[in-house]
Amino acid sequence: MPTGAPPDSPEDGSDQEVSKPDYWNAIYLENESPGWNIGQPAPALIHWLENAGAKPGRVCVPGCGYGHDVRLLAEHGFDAVGVDFAPLAVARANEHSIGAPGKFEFRQADVFELTKTEHEQFDYFYEYTCFVALEPSRRAEYVQLALSVLKPGGLLIGCFYNHGREGGPPFDVTREEVLALYEPHFEIRTLEVTPHSIERRAGHELWAEFAKPT
Ligand SMILES: C[S@@+](CC[C@H](N)C(=O)[O-])C[C@H]1O[C@@H](n2cnc3c(N)ncnc32)[C@H](O)[C@@H]1O
Repeated sequence: MPTGAPPDSPEDGSDQEVSKPDYWNAIYLENESPGWNIGQPAPALIHWLENAGAKPGRVCVPGCGYGHDVRLLAEHGFDAVGVDFAPLAVARANEHSIGAPGKFEFRQADVFELTKTEHEQFDYFYEYTCFVALEPSRRAEYVQLALSVLKPGGLLIGCFYNHGREGGPPFDVTREEVLALYEPHFEIRTLEVTPHSIERRAGHELWAEFAKPT
């Protein structure tokens, strides 16, 4: 069972449990601010939005939690769709978003279901702590999800969390593992440790920019 774990420590979920919304919802119920909630947008996303000069478009934010990154993307002119299957995450994301500027929505759904309704509907797929929340055996399926929902030429951006610890979630992923999964399908433009992280994740987040072939 989930416990009030310290920030970012493994929640000790079995692989199968983490594929169920109840597992995550129970943690949200127990703790208004679970260990993964940094209470603000990811610093690497802030940096990218302020420096990359990216053209805004429709962006998918899987496993969005309370939606800090969704709201920031919307503020910057993106049409942001946050998806989370935990009812409490979506309810609180909506509560936090009252009066927030820009175009965004939160959907309570399993991200893997998006392939049915959102085929090639997104310009961007934004990754932040969803990959490492998934049952590791589903990683190849998650790569296919991004490929499916992105338009040709669409961009996967975001962070992969290489914390180096056993167990999870978050389940560790190395740079080599990310490359092995994504390189056969995407043009890898960047995959490097970002200097823009909150303190406890510093040096462990790999910033990614992968393009889906046209
Ligand atoms: C570690 S939390 C991160 C939340 C958010 N990205 C953040 O940084 O605060 C992972 C989130 O992904 C959600 N999640 C996990 N698997 C999911 C799935 N298959 N479909 C939708 N949401 C999922 C969980 O409910 C949880 O809110």
